[in-house]
Amino acid sequence: LEVDWDAEAVELGGYEDYMLKEIHEQPAAVQRTLAGRLDAGGGIDLSESGVDLAGIQRIAVVACGTAYHAGLLGKYAIERLARLPVEVWVASEYRYAHPIGDDRTLAVAISQSGETTDTLAAVETARGFGAKVLAITNTQGSLITRESDGILLTAAGPEIAVASTKAFLTQVAVMYLLALELARVRGTLPEEELLALGRELRRIPERIQETLDLVQGRMGEAAGLYEDARSSLFLGRGVSYPVALEGALKLKEVSYIPCEGYPAGEMKHGPIALVDERCPVVAVMGRGVLREKTLSNVEETAARGARVISVAARDDADAARLSEVLLPVPELPELLGPLVASVPLQLLAYRVARDRGLDVDKPRNLAKSVTVE
Ligand code: G6P
Repeated sequence: LEVDWDAEAVELGGYEDYMLKEIHEQPAAVQRTLAGRLDAGGGIDLSESGVDLAGIQRIAVVACGTAYHAGLLGKYAIERLARLPVEVWVASEYRYAHPIGDDRTLAVAISQSGETTDTLAAVETARGFGAKVLAITNTQGSLITRESDGILLTAAGPEIAVASTKAFLTQVAVMYLLALELARVRGTLPEEELLALGRELRRIPERIQETLDLVQGRMGEAAGLYEDARSSLFLGRGVSYPVALEGALKLKEVSYIPCEGYPAGEMKHGPIALVDERCPVVAVMGRGVLREKTLSNVEETAARGARVISVAARDDADAARLSEVLLPVPELPELLGPLVASVPLQLLAYRVARDRGLDVDKPRNLAKSVTVE
């Protein structure tokens, strides 16, 4: 018994839970995932994918849970950089939806485990109309790898906590690599621009570490806003919208607080009815023109008594004015922002659940891998 305990302690490497350990492993996990695929100059090599990307005319991403959110971010990146239409489907819907496609469709199936039944069935559906299938998975030799034409492995390493963290960021990193590769193959971006983005992506592991260091000291205060919370609203626009969805999923999974992720501009069409001082609002500000739009949406919640936490650049005075707590993230090109903005939300979920005395690694009713329909 003593030996077992020691072994476990070593595995946890001094962390109290796997979720926290895995959040902190993200710089290394993303670095491993990018290694060999991006060179120092920002040049990309995804020839290992095993799929000929040149003739692809549309993409259907299929995934469940957190992997679905990685797919949504991939859609923004692929459509913006490679000008290719992308649909993103929850796999359990896709399999029964009579989806449209042909042999110039690329189905991208994202699955940490590679064993999720609904995702496998969605792959079969896409195969049925002749689509090529590219699997993005963390598990070599998993079922999905046997059902696909090509594979891009994420290198997150084993993820033990049920709530996915490091697998998510590595999935997003691979979707961005795929977007860059498609843009290169299709010639939709000037080479210099592509290389510059590639170089920014290469620096992401450092940026994630910087984020962890920046926000660590503020999580107690942020989680404090949830002491009497009845629900919580996560808002973002553009690429910050999937970040909001994932932040809400993470918090509800481990804390059992009802949480909703919403496009900030749509909030006035429903969720604003939830807003009061017991419904903390988490605003993912992002950059560019949508930052200002998000600010004014969040202002409406603050005017209705919401307590606001924002994820924003550290010198964002407008966000600071609106928020009780500002979780600062490094400034990045807008598209890459989710790779850092997701991190404080993972820590928030972790901290709120811990403060409630919950088992963060094994939330009730959830399974790491869902192999039933
Ligand atoms: C379960 C897990 C989630 C995961 C989802 C998809 O619901 O609890 O964390 O995102 O399955 O799993 P997959 O292995 O296909 O990525």
